Amino acid sequence: MTLKLNTRFADSFVTSEDMSAIMPEVEAAFKKLHDGTGEGSFFRGWLDLPANYDKAEFEAIKKAAEKIRGDSDILIVIGIGGSYLGARAVIEFIKSSNFNKRRNGAPEIYFAGNSISSSSLAQIVELCEGKDFSVNVISKSGETTEPAVAFRVFRELLEKKYGKEGAKERIYATTDKARGKLKELSDRNGYQTFVVPDDVGGRYSVLTAVGLLPIAAAGIDIDALMQGADDARKQYADPDIANNDCCKYAAMRNVMYRKGKKIELMVSYEPAYALMGEWFKQLFGESEGKCGKGLFPASAIFSTDLHSLGQYVQQGERHLFETVVFINEPLADIEIKTDPENADGLNFLAGKTVSFINRKALEATAIAHEDGGVPSILIELSREDEYSLGWLLYFFEKACAVSGYVLGINPFDQPGVEDYKKNMYALLGKPGHEDRREAIERRLR
Ligand code: PA5
Repeated sequence: MTLKLNTRFADSFVTSEDMSAIMPEVEAAFKKLHDGTGEGSFFRGWLDLPANYDKAEFEAIKKAAEKIRGDSDILIVIGIGGSYLGARAVIEFIKSSNFNKRRNGAPEIYFAGNSISSSSLAQIVELCEGKDFSVNVISKSGETTEPAVAFRVFRELLEKKYGKEGAKERIYATTDKARGKLKELSDRNGYQTFVVPDDVGGRYSVLTAVGLLPIAAAGIDIDALMQGADDARKQYADPDIANNDCCKYAAMRNVMYRKGKKIELMVSYEPAYALMGEWFKQLFGESEGKCGKGLFPASAIFSTDLHSLGQYVQQGERHLFETVVFINEPLADIEIKTDPENADGLNFLAGKTVSFINRKALEATAIAHEDGGVPSILIELSREDEYSLGWLLYFFEKACAVSGYVLGINPFDQPGVEDYKKNMYALLGKPGHEDRREAIERRLR
């Protein structure tokens, strides 16, 4: 089994009575999602995407990825929020953040335009010096300030190095099929474009060109990724909610919330999962945090963060629970050898593998945290590969949508994200925001 939901470290907190009581609501949410009667139902393109994706575009993605691998030492991926987190999470999970080197045909990959830090932008510009590079700029709206600023900088750099014609061959734009500044600019300059489907929101877009082009350029098998997602799609289409782990997870986190838990801490025991934690936070935070409701999503890597957050989790305020993703088969394993001198006193571990010790750390921690009032929902993933990851991505997307409907919100909009953007446009003098500008400037005086 690719993904196993293990509830043993949460059963003392979420009882079978709790589950029976919430199940009719989960069933109604599942039905709403499938028959399109829930709020925001237009944005359900991701639901069948692993089966219904645009096959011609998929091939074009592979071709563009091949070209990037052939002519670029570096690929700069420009985007923010849903327009970069999925790609980065998949690349780091499969390849690990320790291996950003040009090897086996894959370019080094750097992510820009996900902040407005001049230091960070300048550092990435510097990394491109003397190297051949290409840019994949990603923005559904085609208007977001952070990626637009970074793209202007890198476009100029490319044009200076390769000329306008040469630059054109190295710019790949992923955006709306017809609208927005990025689409206009791309058409005017002849950049190759890829489409963000209308009915797929940013945080659900990792399996569209948004995620797939950088992922394929990194040398990751996107066929296997889609296959895993598609098999998950079939598995979690089961309307028998009691046998549907995706719905069970959605149910459990809602029970936790109703019983006073306010924070869901996404935990993994694999450092390569760190960016998946970020992707998860956006998916659930942006989907559920509205109308004064929603679990606050946080993330941590254990055992690393047991040495920083561990004290709080064990004995701090009792408003959190954990969702732990544990990979059962590590990419590689290392056995602890016997040392005849045993000066470090570690011979009690001789013959054991590092992955065995990691598993014991999980079990020890889950029991300690449960005893301390922090239950854990354990998600066991069989392997750290493309197929399993595709499965996991789909599992979380669907769980998020079902969970959001149980919570009573629209899991597909993000009206709150606009507020800071409007204030920033006003302060920067963007035409059309004059009224707001005056009001804000008065408050800053
Ligand atoms: O999930 C979302 O909708 C957001 O996080 C967006 O992806 C993010 O704001 C970037 O928007 P855009 O792709 O339009 O530049």
